[in-house]
Amino acid sequence: MSRQSLAAVLARHRTKPPNILQALLEIQGALGAVSVRAVPEIAKALDVTEADVAGVLSYYPELRPAQPGRHLIRVCLGESCMANHGAKVLARVRAHLKIEVGETTRDGRFTLAPIYCVGNCAVGPSLMVDGDVIGRVNPDQVPALLDSYT
Ligand code: FES
Repeated sequence: MSRQSLAAVLARHRTKPPNILQALLEIQGALGAVSVRAVPEIAKALDVTEADVAGVLSYYPELRPAQPGRHLIRVCLGESCMANHGAKVLARVRAHLKIEVGETTRDGRFTLAPIYCVGNCAVGPSLMVDGDVIGRVNPDQVPALLDSYT
């Protein structure tokens, strides 16, 4: 997608209220994903806040914030997990993989995404790797856990 066609997509959805979801779906259709690094530019073009765009990008599972890696890691940012050291788990995952939420590792192995409850609150903090729900995650176990996925 050229800069001109990206600008045209964004201009078409700069309505009142702007159609953020449709704009993101069109961008993804052309590029395969919507980079989290593009959030400020998209927000400016649609005349909304970056939080508005990031919220839509993280809420709809149809939207991919990065070219998907072989494994999708979803760290639970739900209230229960966050009250139970979920932020430490997320920090450890980010540090181990050297990526931010919404990004894919350079080797294409992992994509990191948020999720807001996996129904595992009683044994949080929780995360999902592909379809596996893992509870009672100790941040110190994160490197070995992730390294077990090839
Ligand atoms: S809040 Fe994390 S599993 Fe429910």
